[in-house]
Amino acid sequence: MDGVDEGWKGEVAPNPHPVQVEQKGKEIAVPEEHDSMDVMEEDNKRHLNVVFIGHVDAGKSTIGGQILFLSNQVDDRTIQKYEKEAKDKSRESWYMAYIMDTNEEERVKGITVEVGRAHFETETTRFTILDAPGHKSYVPNMISGASQADIGVLVISARKGEFETGYEKGGQTREHVQLAKTLGVSKLLVVVNKMDDPTVNWSKERYDEIESKMIPFLKSSGYNVKKDVQFLPISGLLGVNMKTKLDRNICPWWNGSCLFEALDAIEGPPRDPKGPFRMPIIDKFKDMGTVVMGKVESGSICESESLIVMPNKASVKVLAIFIDDNRVKRAGPGENLRVRLSGIEEEDILSGFVLSSIAKPIVAVTEFIAQLVFLESLDNAIFTAGYKAVLHIHSVVEECEIVELLQQIDPKTRKPMKKKVLFVKNGAIVVCRIQVNNLICIEKFSDFAQLGRFTLRTEGKTVAVGKVTDLPSIGRA
Ligand code: GTP
Ligand code: MG
Repeated sequence: MDGVDEGWKGEVAPNPHPVQVEQKGKEIAVPEEHDSMDVMEEDNKRHLNVVFIGHVDAGKSTIGGQILFLSNQVDDRTIQKYEKEAKDKSRESWYMAYIMDTNEEERVKGITVEVGRAHFETETTRFTILDAPGHKSYVPNMISGASQADIGVLVISARKGEFETGYEKGGQTREHVQLAKTLGVSKLLVVVNKMDDPTVNWSKERYDEIESKMIPFLKSSGYNVKKDVQFLPISGLLGVNMKTKLDRNICPWWNGSCLFEALDAIEGPPRDPKGPFRMPIIDKFKDMGTVVMGKVESGSICESESLIVMPNKASVKVLAIFIDDNRVKRAGPGENLRVRLSGIEEEDILSGFVLSSIAKPIVAVTEFIAQLVFLESLDNAIFTAGYKAVLHIHSVVEECEIVELLQQIDPKTRKPMKKKVLFVKNGAIVVCRIQVNNLICIEKFSDFAQLGRFTLRTEGKTVAVGKVTDLPSIGRA
């Protein structure tokens, strides 16, 4: 673990650059060219992207807003303004969520639509918060948030009836956990929220009930509950057990961490700053050149370096690199960047393209072999060769077809079954060949997990999650 051994100091570090929630739906401006004096020296803090997931109304945006408030990024006047605005919309308790939900539509309906993004830091870590929508209509947005994340905070409402709805078949507590695991979110903090609610009142029985129901489900979704999952009770609305430990007068039975401590101590995924450079492009715009946005999944990038944009093999030069609003000379894996490039026009880039090292570029393929798990939540579904769906892999969204089922895997033994496979039902694990119409840049899961895990969706539902197990050799450069 890099630099977290000192533990949480109970104070949010003074922030040299006041941080704001990025306004949704607006183009994010890259700051003017700075003097070299302004180029930030790298700090020693690690950086973690945290996605907040969970069923609609669990309190994700409220917690995100409260984090910003507790880290002194939102003043009392703004809170009062939001309180009034929320009241005018008959959504009194929603004022904290308004810090993250910046669109009028989101505020009127009281639901998050687009992934909200904000920043805060502790003594040892710079966090990017990704506030995912919980509503089932916006699962694709949740997927895009989770695919940028290193760790996840799964928010569960303890309010009577709300935990139950989220946990039911078809509830987003389940769907989000399965998606997060497939998308590479290897560690989860499970926050049991709304503990202040009159139906809960910090009840240990309710907390234990939720924990005991969640543990077997988290295990079956692939999480090692002892190593990778931690539970804690909070009230996002009142900000209890978030920055400071729980007061014994409020809750006598909790001796564990508060949210900030738990976030500070969580271990991020291993990263290789010396690996071949890979940055999937999630967005692009024109600003004194072509600017691309994305998260570095492997390797490092330096100013004036030459790189290649794949799959169109365009040679580019790095003019400037920005982390948040700060210009930096170099950046390593895990960072969310905006990179200004020369040598390519904005029109020639699509989201899903990958900024890549020249010496070891990413491969471009129209076909790959994958291991797929068809989700159990689909009732009575049958899958055969010829099945079409939409493939979501890192920032790629592309229509695909399962052209051949190769082998079925026994879910219990995880070994291949001998029988020839012509069709499979929901819940099955199968190795298959998948084709797409356009060249896409992906990797084998075993080489670059983040670029080799994917979901298949159709008609607004996730049908399968999978990983790339083999690529045709013709795709290699
Ligand atoms: P989506 O983005 O639509 O998925 O919802 P969300 O998870 O972001 O929930 P949001 O923060 O919008 O909160 C939903 C409702 O729950 C609001 O009315 C909040 O005030 C309420 N709420 C959130 N946290 C708490 C809490 O700790 N206690 C209580 N009593 N209510 C809470
Ligand atoms: Mg929300």
